[in-house]
Amino acid sequence: MATLPVLEFEDKIAETVEANPVVVIIGETGSGKSTQLSQILHRRGYTRSGIIAVTQPRRVAAVSVSRRVAHELGVTLGEEVGYAIRFEDRTSDKTCIKYLTDGCLLRESLSNPELNQYSVIILDEAHERSLNTDILLGLMKRLIKTRATNLKVLITSATLDGVKVSKFFSGCPILNIPGTLFPVQKLYSRERPTNFLESSLKTALDIHVKEPAGDILIFMTGQDDIDKMVSKLEERVQNLEEGSCMDALVLPLHGSLPPEMQVRVFSQAPPDCRRFIVATNIAETSLTVDGVVYVIDSGYVKQRQYNPSTGMYSLDVVQISKVQADQRAGRAGRTRPGRCYRLYPASVYNEEFLDASIPEIQRSSLAGSVLYLKSLNLPDIDILKFDFLDPPSRESLEDALRQLYLIDAIDENGKITVVGRTMAELPLEPSLSRTLIEANELGCLAQALTVAATLSAEITVHPSRSKNKETKRKRQSKLPDGSGWGDHIQLLQIYESWDQADYDPRWCSDNYLQARSMIFSKNVRKQLSQIIQKIAKGPSDVLSSLRQKKSDHDYKKLRKALCIGYGYQLAERMLHHNGYRTVGYRSQLVQVHPSSVLESDENGQLPDYVLYHELINTSRPFMRNVCSVEMAWVLPILKKLEKLDTNKLSGGSGSSVGCEPIEEKTSCSPKKEADSNQASNLDSKIQAARDRYLARKAKR
Ligand code: CDP
Ligand code: MG
Repeated sequence: MATLPVLEFEDKIAETVEANPVVVIIGETGSGKSTQLSQILHRRGYTRSGIIAVTQPRRVAAVSVSRRVAHELGVTLGEEVGYAIRFEDRTSDKTCIKYLTDGCLLRESLSNPELNQYSVIILDEAHERSLNTDILLGLMKRLIKTRATNLKVLITSATLDGVKVSKFFSGCPILNIPGTLFPVQKLYSRERPTNFLESSLKTALDIHVKEPAGDILIFMTGQDDIDKMVSKLEERVQNLEEGSCMDALVLPLHGSLPPEMQVRVFSQAPPDCRRFIVATNIAETSLTVDGVVYVIDSGYVKQRQYNPSTGMYSLDVVQISKVQADQRAGRAGRTRPGRCYRLYPASVYNEEFLDASIPEIQRSSLAGSVLYLKSLNLPDIDILKFDFLDPPSRESLEDALRQLYLIDAIDENGKITVVGRTMAELPLEPSLSRTLIEANELGCLAQALTVAATLSAEITVHPSRSKNKETKRKRQSKLPDGSGWGDHIQLLQIYESWDQADYDPRWCSDNYLQARSMIFSKNVRKQLSQIIQKIAKGPSDVLSSLRQKKSDHDYKKLRKALCIGYGYQLAERMLHHNGYRTVGYRSQLVQVHPSSVLESDENGQLPDYVLYHELINTSRPFMRNVCSVEMAWVLPILKKLEKLDTNKLSGGSGSSVGCEPIEEKTSCSPKKEADSNQASNLDSKIQAARDRYLARKAKR
């Protein structure tokens, strides 16, 4: 323990923190930043005047690191040391060291902008450049000016972008904690393998058979590949000749692993046993697994990317950056000299890999973040001018403003509305928080809470890719089908059936649903309903609505609330095309995901309009979780688009503000033209939609 580099520098760290409001600390992964800095400052008395907060971009890291620190201090997790992640708070009055996700700290700052309960805020893993950490960086810069005397901010990073962060904080000191990494030999492939899963598998088995003891860490791009790899490895290892090599233990490691499975990675391996740890990039820097000597690096990572001009997410497997490749290799040299097998040629590393990864703020939809910033009420806040370490593109900010305007969170002058304020207080994405507010008005809050909770808990209805048609059919016929209205309604019905079954976990397994996520959704639902009862204006209304029984068989109120909530995520004119259900979306056809339960009505007609929860480009663009909505609800939203002027929405005054050059080459005027084009397009669209609606009505 005493050998952790951060501990060796305890005095230096304490002195620097004492003398400066902001300090950047750079240290190799595994040097003790996440587990030790909080303890050092605790020992030095900083918990006497407040709590020490340590933010983590990943939920699993917040949980696992706090567990470790509680263990080291010999206290019960949730008491002196605790954690808070969305929908799960394990802290108490006693808590003085609190690990929390960066998103949770942002949320806390809404009700307490000065974050007065904290004496120290450690923004950990800043190199990950998560969207929320980036926003926190901007907020901390403001906060230290108002709370400079009694707030300490530490920013930690595993990689060397410290100078940039220090510049951002007017040249604050940077402490470099020298690492104790052993040399890692890097072995490159001659060419890129055609199948990196097979190639990783072969490499891992080669190491196992030929090389001395030491665990093997294999980087995969996602849970699917990890599962495949784990089962293939287990099979192959079992088939090795008895006694030809040591025992093996294969362990997966990724963000959605149940806690009891995560812990296994941190416990000691049995003697004479080699561990294969098959992980996502979570093992790059946020979790350190001891004992790794061999690393297998495919050179890929799965990345979600939002395109503001199409409103579409894509989930792409992309090449990692040089920084990531070096971090991965570094995992092999923690305890002794190690080896990294790079499944790509050196030329790919040198010529194709970017130096650093693109920060999340530049590849995400920003609606939630912009709503958050607007709700802070900072006197001088013009969103387009907020002080970001790396600013997002102007296009993406404008896209966010447009989304917020369409769902009434901001008015046409960019001012946050009463609705917007309430929305910001709900720990949900804007579409779902807006839905809840509307549902409260319409008297279907109970149902909407269920939909929001099941979507947040990511209940998957058809997890099996069973090739057996019979199994598939059985499985699907047992569950409610959304009465043809779509997937949101199906989720509601599933939850209601489970409720009827007295929340029996066996009901879940009988229906091929994960009991763990169903129980989680129940918990989320309870929390959401508590929050909304606290913040919505007429608590008695809310209560009566919570008691309301399902009566409308076409779920009309609920679908209307969803339509208002998803205002920006609508697609029109559903039809069958080449045997698939498709919708018109920004003058292209998009396929509705085959798993959707939305059906045509008794006349074989598909709905004119649908809303979608997610639009994601995988092999092709798919809409997931769609629900049928009515023309009459959509028209007012389309009307709103006509009035829209993005320059005004940013919250600045006068048109020059909108022209602030943030990575933007085009000037204001063509943009305006485009907007008015869009409006006249919409006019004809609205007319066409009206015509179709009337035609259908006449037919019925
Ligand atoms: O944050 P940083 O990467 O600098 O290191 P850390 O997470 O504080 O880890 C320091 C040491 O604690 C490493 O040897 C980890 O293996 C160990 N650790 C652990 O055993 N279990 C955890 N849940 C977290 C850390
Ligand atoms: Mg760490």
